[in-house]
Amino acid sequence: MHLIVVTSIILAVSYAEENVEQLDDNGLATSDQCKGDNAFVLDGCYPKLECFPNVSPWKTLTRPVPKPDDPSEIDVGLVLYTLRNIENGTELILCPQLNVEETDFSPTKPTFLVVHGLGGNNLTGYLHEIKDSLLQNVDANVIVVSYSSGSFLKYLQVVSNLRIVAAVLARAVKQLIDLGLRPKNIHAIGHSLGAHVCAYLGKIISSDNHKIGVITALDPAQPAFEAEDAAVKLTENDADTVIVIHTNGKPFFPFLGFGYVNPGGTIDIFVNGGKNQPDCKPSINPSEKRVTSMAALATMSVGSLIDMAAIGCSHGKSVKYYVSALENKDYLCVARKISDFKTFANKVNLQNLARIDDQIFSRENSICTKEDCSILGLLTSELPARGNFDLKTQSEYPYCSE
Ligand SMILES: *[C@@H]1O[C@H](CO)[C@@H](O)[C@H](O)[C@H]1NC(C)=O
Ligand SMILES: *[C@@H]1O[C@H](CO)[C@@H](O)[C@H](O)[C@H]1NC(C)=O
Repeated sequence: MHLIVVTSIILAVSYAEENVEQLDDNGLATSDQCKGDNAFVLDGCYPKLECFPNVSPWKTLTRPVPKPDDPSEIDVGLVLYTLRNIENGTELILCPQLNVEETDFSPTKPTFLVVHGLGGNNLTGYLHEIKDSLLQNVDANVIVVSYSSGSFLKYLQVVSNLRIVAAVLARAVKQLIDLGLRPKNIHAIGHSLGAHVCAYLGKIISSDNHKIGVITALDPAQPAFEAEDAAVKLTENDADTVIVIHTNGKPFFPFLGFGYVNPGGTIDIFVNGGKNQPDCKPSINPSEKRVTSMAALATMSVGSLIDMAAIGCSHGKSVKYYVSALENKDYLCVARKISDFKTFANKVNLQNLARIDDQIFSRENSICTKEDCSILGLLTSELPARGNFDLKTQSEYPYCSE
């Protein structure tokens, strides 16, 4: 009996090692595997083959993704916006290599990358809300990242395609770094699945011995990520500062939460408890749309999932809060440190939410210090506070009222 147990442990360990050895530091396959179905010429214009084998940890029993689509079918696009060009951006030429010569791109300015989630393109409203609110605050390069034909697909296919999106994006970002952009000056912002594109970008850049400055993950997608290997999901190591805004962190099965339940960054802000948002009551009977397994999720159309996300609007509130925080500098969104996350997570529900009105650093008798409070927005990464934070908002714009 003991012998059998020991043998299966050894088998499990060597199986895992074998799978790990198949991938190099970039999560790319070693050369002998870079052939056949797994090998792509990125964008149809990249001189070097890259390889994306659909093996562990990318594909597991709990993450049954199909292989990624061909880059030519994913249609990754980058559009640059600057203060001189807020309304009509300039589409960046990616092939045969990134060309920013005739554009307003300045390598010495902060550079934001804004990435959508399931079912988006370069016209998606919230990308432009984020872009506009950034340019109200900073003289920056803001690059909207889209992958439209790769994102209007079934959930697990889009999940798989994110690897390709990130590889195409990372190639462009490396070229910007070669032009003098400092990785620390890069701030990648992604909603839902887009947060994991930012994470993959961060991992690829990290493996070149620098880290990007900031990732802001607006309710990063949970299904097929949160419980999986660090290589396939957003983690606190993917940038110098990884900020996670939690607005819909309930288990996906059976509660239909779309976002991370647990902390995933260096600064995690749980808004109104992080599970559901106050004005986001489902308007239909939730049981009608209940998804009970990964297999059921795999068969759902992108349209029905987007409908669910819209109905359950808490997921999208992460974007609304962030944009509002950037637009309304007079109304600070002050988040208070959570000392005991387990107790916090167990206690939170909509009934016991109370407005916090004594949280400003400058206020006398404030219980807030720079170490134990954070502020949502562009300041978040600059403040010294790290850890888990609780942010209470009102249900209506501008949400925060300090
Ligand atoms: C943006 O493009 C539209 C359509 O071409 C044009 O009508 C508009 O004037 C442009 N806006 C700016 C600020 O250039
Ligand atoms: C948006 O993407 C489409 C293709 O998906 C492209 O034709 C269009 O030029 C892009 N828009 C801008 C402003 O670059």
